[in-house]
Amino acid sequence: MCICALTKTSFQTNVNMNFYFLAQITVQLVATLVLGGIKDMCVNYMCMYRLYDDKGRLNTDPISGLHCKSVHLCFFEYQQSDNSVRLPFGLAFNITSFQRFRVDLKLVPKMKLVASVQIPFLKFQSIASRYGSHRTFIKTLLDFARNNNFDGLSLKFLNLYDTVDVDRVSLASLLTNFRKWIATDATNRSLPRLTLSHILTAQQNMLKESASINFFHRFMDYTILAAMDMALSVDYPTHNAPLTGSTNNVVSSLRHWLSNNDTRRKLFLGIPLYGILYNLTDSQLNSDVGATIISARKVCYFRQNTNVTFSFDTKEQVPFMNHSQFWLGYENRLSLELKVSLMIQSKLAGVAVFYVNDDDVSGYFCKEGVFPFMRYVYMACLNMNYYATG
Ligand SMILES: *[C@@H]1O[C@H](CO)[C@@H](O)[C@H](O)[C@H]1NC(C)=O
Ligand SMILES: *[C@@H]1O[C@H](CO)[C@@H](O)[C@H](O)[C@H]1NC(C)=O
Ligand SMILES: *[C@@H]1O[C@H](CO)[C@@H](O)[C@H](O)[C@H]1NC(C)=O
Ligand SMILES: *[C@@H]1O[C@H](CO)[C@@H](O)[C@H](O)[C@H]1NC(C)=O
Ligand SMILES: *[C@@H]1O[C@H](CO)[C@@H](O)[C@H](O)[C@H]1NC(C)=O
Ligand SMILES: *[C@@H]1O[C@H](CO)[C@@H](O)[C@H](O)[C@H]1NC(C)=O
Repeated sequence: MCICALTKTSFQTNVNMNFYFLAQITVQLVATLVLGGIKDMCVNYMCMYRLYDDKGRLNTDPISGLHCKSVHLCFFEYQQSDNSVRLPFGLAFNITSFQRFRVDLKLVPKMKLVASVQIPFLKFQSIASRYGSHRTFIKTLLDFARNNNFDGLSLKFLNLYDTVDVDRVSLASLLTNFRKWIATDATNRSLPRLTLSHILTAQQNMLKESASINFFHRFMDYTILAAMDMALSVDYPTHNAPLTGSTNNVVSSLRHWLSNNDTRRKLFLGIPLYGILYNLTDSQLNSDVGATIISARKVCYFRQNTNVTFSFDTKEQVPFMNHSQFWLGYENRLSLELKVSLMIQSKLAGVAVFYVNDDDVSGYFCKEGVFPFMRYVYMACLNMNYYATG
């Protein structure tokens, strides 16, 4: 097992200056340690991988040298028309070319490969309401996972929160059958059981449907809360994943989730490795026209501009930079550490980074080594562990 060299002091300095609820953290961490949960938090490091870019090209970025417990390949799509699982844009998926994901087995002996599948929620609901179709649906997903040597399935329901009247009884029946089939499938094949998880988005509208959220959680091995993308539909420069401050933020999303105590130990906090760039040329008030997702490595490129102004939004606990008509909200080492700290303070299961390939995979852009941002997340987690015990 590889545990890297630790630099405890740098983290503490940052934290003392900037993190308002860290005062409480030591006591809570010790409490968690006694329960035996804390070590798992750092080991429970989920890595989300963008399978394709926004132009519909397949990504082939490496992921070696990381501490991922699981790599989630995002996002396959469940096709309504012919009950199949595919990639969008007509992309061909060939698991053989992804076998190198398993090369790092020496570093992370139990690294799992998970297929993340998007499912239109209305379709899911209609399948659930017809018992005859449960079998076909579940079999399609299980066969897809097994044929491609995945260790688990992670479902992402699209438009979940648009649905007001959820038929809970039939959904419960479908998910109960899903779990049963997963168990039988493992027995039939004499293989470890596939994991079943789901990914939730933390956007504003999720706050309406807490009952549904807790409902799904009962059937899942774990849940990943994608605490980001909070800015994409607004008309003024807004942070992607503000920790606090704005109406819609990571702390409030999490608080919402933790209203049910059972969810805590199965919940992973999703942390973005990308920001949002606004082009404010036309008008400050009509700027979403020019909003673009910018990966962490491109942020490094952007910051080399000589006239850029760096700021840290103390209200929302995230950095931004601007020059001329451009405004870029992003994540840096400090904002990532603050999010990890929130995860630990909330006694969650761990973190999930969105996405591995938004990091500086080659080390070329940021000149901070390969995968610097993932390293910051991982180190923050380890350091806070030491901070608590030391
Ligand atoms: C999958 O990819 C591997 C390696 O890139 C290649 O050798 C193999 O022919 C491909 N298989 C299919 C079915 O395309
Ligand atoms: C397990 O095997 C039995 C007997 O072959 C079969 O009827 C059943 O459908 C299989 N179940 C799964 C989930 O593969
Ligand atoms: C959740 O846990 C807290 C602290 O342990 C406890 O005070 C609270 O009553 C619990 N809430 C529920 C709904 O069980
Ligand atoms: C910013 O917006 C202006 C006006 O719409 C456009 O001319 C310019 O190309 C944009 N710049 C970038 C980098 O997108
Ligand atoms: C930086 O600002 C100065 C003064 O406004 C300007 O002359 C220069 O062209 C700018 N440089 C860049 C790279 O935008
Ligand atoms: C950058 O943002 C700061 C804070 O909002 C603002 O005061 C400053 O004028 C902006 N700089 C430029 C070049 O737009």
